[in-house]
Amino acid sequence: MEQNLQGKVALVTGAARGIGQAIALRLAQAGAELALCDVQADWLTETAAQGAALGRRAACYAADVSDGAAVQAAVDAVLKDFGRIDILVNNAGITRDGLLARMSESDWDRVIEVNLKGTFLFTRAVTRPMMKQRAGAIVNVASIIGLIGNAGQCNYAASKAGVIALTKSVAKELAKRNIRANAVAPGFISTHMTDQLPEEVRQAMLAAIPLARFGSAQDVAEVVHFLASDAAAYVTGQVVSVCGGMVM
Ligand SMILES: NC(=O)c1ccc[n+]([C@@H]2O[C@H](COP(=O)([O-])OP(=O)(O)OC[C@H]3O[C@@H](n4cnc5c(N)ncnc54)[C@H](O)[C@@H]3O)[C@@H](O)[C@H]2O)c1
Repeated sequence: MEQNLQGKVALVTGAARGIGQAIALRLAQAGAELALCDVQADWLTETAAQGAALGRRAACYAADVSDGAAVQAAVDAVLKDFGRIDILVNNAGITRDGLLARMSESDWDRVIEVNLKGTFLFTRAVTRPMMKQRAGAIVNVASIIGLIGNAGQCNYAASKAGVIALTKSVAKELAKRNIRANAVAPGFISTHMTDQLPEEVRQAMLAAIPLARFGSAQDVAEVVHFLASDAAAYVTGQVVSVCGGMVM
């Protein structure tokens, strides 16, 4: 496998499981050293062990992405340990689904805090070191729901649409510094997040996917790897849907 991230340091949030874990390991396969962040610190050790088995340095940083002080402390610790951050993948995310009329303020706030504010906080924290390096690649994990909306997910849809707008603004602001920012918009990917959905919802989703299968975390990780690498050197401010053709 091509080692196009040799010597680069990748910080991945929500790396304990699911899409974040697959992204971290894909970047490690390409040669990147791993700074792994998750609120579930004890789950991170599995990702770190798999990264180490690929021959990469992998260190764990416990942080809630919605906590500004914890995010800054994690980024400071990564810089102390690794000396640089070349790639940031903002992947940590949650759902708190419910119909709008019944949605509590706390379910609205929490989803915006983790998905949108968390992406802002980590991006802000890596901006200065990436500007000093005069290079950096940021990849945000949005969702096709942020593009097309979804009944029962107004908080999640708004958070992911916000992530897309944030990505484009960051791309415009930092392009002169040779820092790129892009987003992936996964469709229906088989993970813990989607395992919880009722079977009839899963079947209805499947019927709407032209490629006629649910996506895997690996499908998303491949696109994130491309966007994080120099192969995407002329790509910034873009949203790449990884959805089996659900959104065209
Ligand atoms: N699974 C899908 O179909 C799908 C589709 C579109 C987008 N996404 C997005 O992909 C990303 C990963 O989703 P997944 O399916 O792997 O979910 P997951 O629940 O399997 O994993 C999410 C990870 O994020 C961590 N996390 C949650 N809140 C956190 C916080 N406050 N601080 C730090 N870490 C936190 C969790 O501990 C977990 O390890 C999310 O942003 C999600 O919105 C998923």
